[in-house]
Amino acid sequence: MSIVFLNHAYLPAEEAKISPMDRGFLFGDSIYEVLPSYNGEIIGFNLHINRLNRNMSAIGIRLEWPHDEWMKVCKALLEKNGLGNLGIYLQVSRGTAPVRSHAYTKDIDPTVFAFSFEINPEQSASKSKVTPYKVATSLDLRWARCQIKSTALLGNVMHFQHGHQKGFNETLLYNDHNELTEGSTCNAYIVKNGVISTPSLDNHVLPGVTRHILLDLLRRNDSMQIEERVILMDEVFAADEVWVTSSSKEIIPVIEVDGKTIGNGEVGDVWLAAQKIYSIGKRGY
Ligand code: PDD
Repeated sequence: MSIVFLNHAYLPAEEAKISPMDRGFLFGDSIYEVLPSYNGEIIGFNLHINRLNRNMSAIGIRLEWPHDEWMKVCKALLEKNGLGNLGIYLQVSRGTAPVRSHAYTKDIDPTVFAFSFEINPEQSASKSKVTPYKVATSLDLRWARCQIKSTALLGNVMHFQHGHQKGFNETLLYNDHNELTEGSTCNAYIVKNGVISTPSLDNHVLPGVTRHILLDLLRRNDSMQIEERVILMDEVFAADEVWVTSSSKEIIPVIEVDGKTIGNGEVGDVWLAAQKIYSIGKRGY
């Protein structure tokens, strides 16, 4: 039975209860993080908690926990749930108010909920061990504040489901100008003639922690060329390689987009080099 954390208590998942008046439930008025851990070792802890804090300030939730407090919760969840390959989900909602009103007051206590769940083992830097993705595409119909990691994910859910129900692993999104934004649950990249490009960060892209770590590691490596820029969907279809990243997936090569083969239809050499660098370097974050 899994043990979860709810408002300072550890308890079996089945016993964790929140009020239906919680603004996270009524309005999606809450934010979240997903941190990967392997055998008790959390990757990118400070980057995730920094983003959580940034998002809380962005929406005006006041919960001033030092990083140590979050670390205690994460470690306790891992210990209570058996280590292994575990994602840690952290959610802070604005809390429960007595009446449903769009306006909120500052005196509500935030609801803090956290649990762990199984994720895939660490990605092997091996072409034969990775399972590449085939993805769909869709016009990005989410809101204009995608940089906030909000639990109001209906747009993302609908986009993901669009691909999923046709048998695809993900849905890549593009804006009105045919520019790639991201995937419904991940950041996206293309590789052309050895150059790795990813959309620049703006309000249509979540600043992924995996993206941050990967770009930082690649930039330290002289043999890698990186660009953050506008990427047109035509460039995606003409790319030598396409990848997606997220905390629970690391770097996943994409070999087909909307049924069209990417490059030679096989996992690419640049992915292999990047995943090798990521596998070694990620523990430093
Ligand atoms: N998804 N973009 C979107 C829309 C995402 O939902 C995610 C993560 C990312 C990658 O961010 P990071 O590298 O920090 O995980 C980009 C998480 C894992 C989820 O919703 O479960």
